Amino acid sequence: MTKVIFKINGVQYEADGKYSPDVSLNEYIRTVADLRGTKAMCHEGGCGACVVSVRAASPPTNEVKTFAVNSCLVSVLSCHGWEVTTVEGIGNRTTGYHEVQSRLAKFNGTQCGYCTPGWVMNMYSLYTAKNKNLTAEEVENSFASNMCRCTGYRPIADAFKSFASDADDYLKNKLIDLEDMAVFKCCGVKCKENCKHNKKLTQKVNGKYHKEDWCVIENSKNDILILKGANYNWFKLFKLCDVFKTIAQCDDYKLIAGNTGQGVYHITEYPKYVIDIFSVSELKGHILDVNLILGAGMPLTEMMEVFQKLSTENENFAYLKELYDHLDLVAHIPVRNIGTIGGNLYLKHLNNEFPSDLFLLFETVGGMITIAEESNKFCKITLSEFLKYDMKRKVILNVMLPPLSSTSKIKTYKIMPRSQNAHAILNAGVLFKFKQNLNVIEKATIVYGGVSPDFVHANKTEEVLVNQDPFTDETLQIALKSLQEEIDPVEAPPEPSTKYRKLLALALFYKAVLSLCPEGNINANYRSGGSAIKRHTSKGTQTYDTDEAIWPLNKPVPKLEALVQCSGEATFANDLSSQTNEVYGAFVTADVIPGSVLAGFDCTEALKIPGVTAFYTAKDIPGKNNFTPTNISIVRSEEEILCDHEVKFYGQPVAIIVANREKIANRAAKLVKVKYESTPSKKPLLTVKSVLSSPEKSNRVSNDQVVEPTDVGHDTKKVISDELDFGTQYHYYMEPQTCVTVPTENGLDVYSSTQWLDLTSVAVAQCLNVPVNSVNVIVRRVGGAYGGKITRSAQIACASALVSHLHGKPCRFILSVEENMRIIGKRASTYCKFEAGVNDNGEIQYLNITYYQDNGCSNNETISPMTVLHFPNCYNSKRWRIEASSAITDTPSATWCRAPASTEGIAVTEYVMERIAHALGKDPIAVRLANMSKEDNPIPDLIEQLKKDSDFDTRLEDVKLFNTNNRWRKRALKLMPMTYDLFYFGPFNCLITIYHGDGTVAITHGCTEMGQGINTKTAQVCAYALGIPLEKVSIMPSSSFTSPNCMPTGGSIGSECIAYACLKACEILMDRLKPIREELGNPSWEDLVQEAYKRQVYLHASYMFTKDAPVQNYDIYGVIALEVEVDILTGNHDVLRVDLLEDTGRSLNPEIDVGQIEGAFIMGLGYWTSEKTVYDDKTGKLLTDRTWTYKPPGIKDIPADFRIYFRRNSTNIHGVLQSKASGEPAFCLAAVITHALREAVRAARLDAGCDDTWIEIGFPCTTENIFLAVEHKLEHFKWKMQLQKHIKIAAGCTGAAIFGILFGWVIFPVILKSQLKKEMALSKKTDIRQMWEKIPFALDFKVYLFNYTNPEEVHKGALPIVKEIGPYYFEEWKEKVEIQDQDDTDTINYRKLDAFYFKKELSGPGLTGEEVITLPHPFLMGIVNIVNRDKPAMLNMVGKAINGIFDNPPNVFVQVAALDILFRGIIINCARTEFAPKAVCTGMKKEAAERLIFEPNNQYRFSFFGMRNATVDKHVITVKRGMKNVMDVGKVVAIDGKMEQETWSGKCNEFEGTDGTVFPPFLTEFDRLESFSGDLCRTFRPWYQRKSSYKGIKTNRYIANIGDFANDPELQCLCDEPGNCPPKGLMDLTKCMGVAMYASLPHFYDSDPEVLNNIKGLSPDVNEHEIAIDFEPITGTPMVAKQRVQFSMLLFKTDKIELCKDLPNVIAPLFWIEEGLSLNKTFVNMLKHQLFIPKRVVGVVRWLLVSGGITGVLACLLFHFKDHIIRFAVKPDSANVTKITPENGDVEQKIFSTSAGKMLPKIE
Ligand SMILES: Cc1cc2nc3c(=O)[nH]c(=O)nc-3n(C[C@H](O)[C@H](O)[C@H](O)COP(=O)(O)OP(=O)(O)OC[C@H]3O[C@@H](n4cnc5c(N)ncnc54)[C@H](O)[C@@H]3O)c2cc1C
Ligand code: FES
Ligand code: FES
Repeated sequence: MTKVIFKINGVQYEADGKYSPDVSLNEYIRTVADLRGTKAMCHEGGCGACVVSVRAASPPTNEVKTFAVNSCLVSVLSCHGWEVTTVEGIGNRTTGYHEVQSRLAKFNGTQCGYCTPGWVMNMYSLYTAKNKNLTAEEVENSFASNMCRCTGYRPIADAFKSFASDADDYLKNKLIDLEDMAVFKCCGVKCKENCKHNKKLTQKVNGKYHKEDWCVIENSKNDILILKGANYNWFKLFKLCDVFKTIAQCDDYKLIAGNTGQGVYHITEYPKYVIDIFSVSELKGHILDVNLILGAGMPLTEMMEVFQKLSTENENFAYLKELYDHLDLVAHIPVRNIGTIGGNLYLKHLNNEFPSDLFLLFETVGGMITIAEESNKFCKITLSEFLKYDMKRKVILNVMLPPLSSTSKIKTYKIMPRSQNAHAILNAGVLFKFKQNLNVIEKATIVYGGVSPDFVHANKTEEVLVNQDPFTDETLQIALKSLQEEIDPVEAPPEPSTKYRKLLALALFYKAVLSLCPEGNINANYRSGGSAIKRHTSKGTQTYDTDEAIWPLNKPVPKLEALVQCSGEATFANDLSSQTNEVYGAFVTADVIPGSVLAGFDCTEALKIPGVTAFYTAKDIPGKNNFTPTNISIVRSEEEILCDHEVKFYGQPVAIIVANREKIANRAAKLVKVKYESTPSKKPLLTVKSVLSSPEKSNRVSNDQVVEPTDVGHDTKKVISDELDFGTQYHYYMEPQTCVTVPTENGLDVYSSTQWLDLTSVAVAQCLNVPVNSVNVIVRRVGGAYGGKITRSAQIACASALVSHLHGKPCRFILSVEENMRIIGKRASTYCKFEAGVNDNGEIQYLNITYYQDNGCSNNETISPMTVLHFPNCYNSKRWRIEASSAITDTPSATWCRAPASTEGIAVTEYVMERIAHALGKDPIAVRLANMSKEDNPIPDLIEQLKKDSDFDTRLEDVKLFNTNNRWRKRALKLMPMTYDLFYFGPFNCLITIYHGDGTVAITHGCTEMGQGINTKTAQVCAYALGIPLEKVSIMPSSSFTSPNCMPTGGSIGSECIAYACLKACEILMDRLKPIREELGNPSWEDLVQEAYKRQVYLHASYMFTKDAPVQNYDIYGVIALEVEVDILTGNHDVLRVDLLEDTGRSLNPEIDVGQIEGAFIMGLGYWTSEKTVYDDKTGKLLTDRTWTYKPPGIKDIPADFRIYFRRNSTNIHGVLQSKASGEPAFCLAAVITHALREAVRAARLDAGCDDTWIEIGFPCTTENIFLAVEHKLEHFKWKMQLQKHIKIAAGCTGAAIFGILFGWVIFPVILKSQLKKEMALSKKTDIRQMWEKIPFALDFKVYLFNYTNPEEVHKGALPIVKEIGPYYFEEWKEKVEIQDQDDTDTINYRKLDAFYFKKELSGPGLTGEEVITLPHPFLMGIVNIVNRDKPAMLNMVGKAINGIFDNPPNVFVQVAALDILFRGIIINCARTEFAPKAVCTGMKKEAAERLIFEPNNQYRFSFFGMRNATVDKHVITVKRGMKNVMDVGKVVAIDGKMEQETWSGKCNEFEGTDGTVFPPFLTEFDRLESFSGDLCRTFRPWYQRKSSYKGIKTNRYIANIGDFANDPELQCLCDEPGNCPPKGLMDLTKCMGVAMYASLPHFYDSDPEVLNNIKGLSPDVNEHEIAIDFEPITGTPMVAKQRVQFSMLLFKTDKIELCKDLPNVIAPLFWIEEGLSLNKTFVNMLKHQLFIPKRVVGVVRWLLVSGGITGVLACLLFHFKDHIIRFAVKPDSANVTKITPENGDVEQKIFSTSAGKMLPKIE
């Protein structure tokens, strides 16, 4: 056969020798099949954009399988017999969408959409391969291959997990909601849940293919396939003998299996003979005899399946489970699907430094390799031997793994910079073979990868361990020391430092020992150190409000483009179909130290390559060699498109190569030799710090701004200073910098991946020296940008335009990932110093901040002046001095990168807050609050809100507990606030067209859709403004023709500005339509438009948002709480939970804003943790320039529990349509992770006995930095406490202390408790019963009356003025009478009898009780109130009756002697015969008989307390005695035999709590007391306030109030009726007492301020007016109590009664009482003798035991840590003592060695 045959989406394709091996399946799909849905970014298997699904026969069984592959890694010539499915193949607009596509769209799993086809196809493959049988964990674990920079992964994970059989209910419900919400346009019809197309395609997923669907595989007969091309020969072979025959004929050959190895080590050029051995039968399958033999051609996925199966089936291969788990971390599924064992091992053979995990695993278990030297000559060698073996013309045949009995124990680790899809920083395998039934090692195997190319085994340590018990501290230390000596890593930048890798190697050995150690031999809190950190399946919630009344505004609809993004129909710049004669451009770069001067080029080699057509340099540019025209605002300096003279940074573009293929252009560009006139001998200046210390400082540093303080504090108690160095960040947009230029009759169409149309068009025109109107820049959408495509994209556009201009052909210019990373500037790094003076509370007295930001090689996009604005965050910055500078370095010009300036400003400030808190030992939240800006700042409330929502305080305790129980795992929970200062700029335009044909609307605007959802939000605003359905609106591409002169899309404001412009344009249109609408009388939209068309109304309008728009800059608020867990032995971490609260105003689209917040936050997490950039400091070359070396977060790096909350009921009066921007702020909140990681490291260091000094982890907080910050020492690596002598003493002392604690705090209290239980019940014999029956002393009863000083004015409507008169002191004697015990129910019945005796001498000064008081007549007003309430129609009659009864009173006030109104009574004259008074008196007699004393001649007396005095209360109360359960003592169970009242509604009628004279014992601070007050018909629930004491007895203070009925759901049943509740702090007593009065605390303390404001002369005071009771908690005895209640009455205005016609509407206080108790000496002594003296004796004994014990322990600890103490004392601050001179050079050693008797190994 001479061609490969395969299918793409069912269409057969053939490829022959004209295709070279470097044509990837990706290139073929995109350029030959012209299917542009499949994307590409990295071309090395690192990003997943290119994933497609393959269905093929899998040798040796030829079972047909479906699997995902990276199309960028597969040569198209390898695809023989494959059926490839691309994203277009599973669903599209014409045929309908696949469920995977539509579900991802509904879940809002797309933003820019560039990554989306890759995700869809990976899921599709998984779903098909597993026949829909998936678990959520499996789904989430299967996407290591796919990167997404926009979404933050959560919605993608949710969408795909919703397919899982065990999907949680939250997801299932969400899916239902989303189904309802999503109305997508597909195939021109509404395609809701039952779209027929979906059904059709879902069936196909089940794998029910018909025979005719599949012919290629079944017809393939494994014939040798030879494709001969001009430069290459491709062989597809099926037999080993054929392989040998072929390689025998050629020297220059390459074997290819899965060909994924090129993802690790790029293939620059293929040799002439390429031999595809993927299907060679001898290399396939596995055999299990004694050993397990795995064919070298077996893909890793298949190997894992074999391992999983065998590990459960065969005891001798149980160890394969460990290998399986490790392999799960190797590459990712698409690579493992075709990458083979042989390929992996051979990569290691060729590149010994490669940390191959397969090599490590096989070598650890003692595997062997079989090498085929000829088709029938084999040789078995060890893996170590294989590394050096001559493999010329040889093939790896298989790998043999031995059986291992249960005496062998294995543990392996792979430590990576992120959770998945990263090669090992270091990997390790440890295998101990133990002697039978002993803990003694027979053979030890310790293998490492990533140490150095030569290092495999720790041979010496393996020897040392033989015959040793590894589970003793001694052996452990010996082994560690030995490892320390033999492990000598080599520097291999950008790999982490040798220091880290060496210590990590030791830590991993220790980890393995911890893991293998049998139970019981190890302290429990060491155990978790043995395992690697593992992320649980994630979950997320999103909480926001949406107002349906304004939909489609504020509606959480998915993105308009979501479906076409999921089907690959959404196009990006490079998705323009193949153009005739198109060419590709690539930059030739100056790979040289900056400062070198160009001399010329030698492009002979490059031009020799077939397909290379041109070479251009700066000299070929017809116009200006500049892509940053300075006639555009915000552009400051010119930057060269192609360097012309002096090189500014390593990798700067200097020329362009043009070729007919992208790969050829890229390859040829590398072959151009750039010549230099001179190269500098000095090192490049790559960082701000290096500039500051260089002689060039003055030329390179510019001082941009200084903000002077306006205030200074004078209470500086501590000064804190520090410096910070934040690194850079690569944008990692998934769509590379791209431009396609197509010559047109008018000039040039420029399809640019840009955020800035205007800059691109001007730059291109200037560079070509053509008019701007001949350059048409078109942007449909951009595949992620984050600021990196604002100005930089113009360089690529100019280069592409130059090629088209000079060549006259369409040109595609796409930067490869390496070029993208090297050429394009990144986030500006920041160096900052500060000094803060603070007081004891942490409040800043002064703060000086100086910072420098790295501009790179030009002054464009300088952010330091912007950063100044963000420093204040939410704090009062009046005392801050901020100095902003920037520096020029020898790196690409820095660019805006998501949340530029705000990220750095806020991060520095938050660091300062943490630093202050640490220095003062204070709670960081308290320090923040102390510095908080007081003006109009909602942050304190939001902090409280989030603390509540996130259960912060409880979780903080859980974290502490976890840390106590885990020595090597530490958790931390941190909170951080944010105020993000948003500012507007412009202009931006929006154009709207209404089509008369059907009333549909099209919009275009001057911003770029790049994932932020601007199109969807704009369409929503338009639909809202025009009052039409969202489906009627669509968005057209942006272009420089329709949107000229606009600013770039950035700074999060684009959506708002376009929304504003859209709204205004809609208003213009609506104004034009208004007359017709009015004339037609509410016509349908379609009719309206049609009529307007007939009348020639212009149905097109535009509007430009400018800086004059009536919007204002505003603040966006946010608070975050983040919990992290750190593996202290590796530096890996796992974000356990994030609660993020952000103020989005009234979001235009909550789902889109959730996506923005999540995406920004995850990008921020990457910046602060895994995204590290490394330069070669000698040349300035960027070393982290690939997906292999630069690691943004992946799907398993996001928080395991990710909760987003929008600020409730938020609006924004300053912004557009009340919304707030959401694209960037959450990025700033991610800095919280640095605080959490530091806190976790701190916990570990404290465990290790380190001082609590401030920890500098460094930024980013990489695995390496975290690990090194712990400062591990070998002696910390132990796993069981050895009890030394002093420790044993300590143990004894601890025992004594524990006994003390046990007896004193546990046993004795139990005895006491049981005794008390008997004593505290109301059984007949107890003292408590006596006391309860009759309180043996009088209570204090004080009454205060309110004297009204302006009754006449009040009568006329003035507010009352009162003066308090009192106290009138009474002795109150309380007893219970008619007592009856009921043994069966354990209850007592009784009635109350209270008596009051006036005590003049104890009353207020001079008070006799005869003082005349003026106050509203309680009886008069009582009648008016009651009638007004119950029978208002009778008010007129009541008015007349009052005049009769009260003798025509002048007003509603009465003047009366104090004792009369209190006890003696005032006369009510009911002797009248007129109708009205008589009728009222009759009613009164009936209703108020209980409160009146009847005198002869129909005279009644009324007083407040007279009827109660010395009178047996009529009610019979039943209470529990508490003999059965003492906690029930005194509990009211019935009154008058009724089990509940009939006064209120619902629960309020229940009797809850005691009768108020006795309380249950054993009160704790957490108990709420309950007592039922019969007088007020309700239960009171005092709550614990604080500790107190009374006469030497410790008490607990409880306080109570009346409550806020309207807002307390528990009390709402006390309201008159629902919705009619009294003001806060007041209780309406009408229903309870039949009297129209209100109860409150005196002087309306703790009540609605409105009520207080209406009365003058009141002064509420906590001490005077609160209810407070001090209880002795053990017995529950009230020791001192002050129960206070005020009674008031409503004065109100009514025309129906003359007296009331001008009254003010106020609640008028009448009097208040204080019922006080203070236990006298006798009773206090009684308590003391019976309870406290025995308690005290025990107390002393227990404290003696405890303090003795602790002292002993402390002494032992002091002895134990004396060396640390000595070192601390003599080392850091007393240099004169420790400085080692030749004479006392051994001093340090002596001090150091005293602890263990011998010097411990020192870690380098
Ligand atoms: C993104 C990515 C991440 C990765 N991560 C990891 C990782 O974490 N850990 C890890 O260990 N590996 C990792 N790898 C490497 C991966 O395991 C290998 O790429 C894969 O196993 C190679 O198999 P292949 O069949 O594709 O080899 P190929 O690419 O086809 O071949 C690789 C080399 O092996 C030679 N070769 C292949 N088979 C034989 C044979 N039978 N006899 C002699 N020579 C042979 C070829 O000539 C070639 O030189 C990663 C790869 C990628 C792309
Ligand atoms: S392009 Fe294939 S994985 Fe990135
Ligand atoms: S949506 Fe994933 S990278 Fe943009």
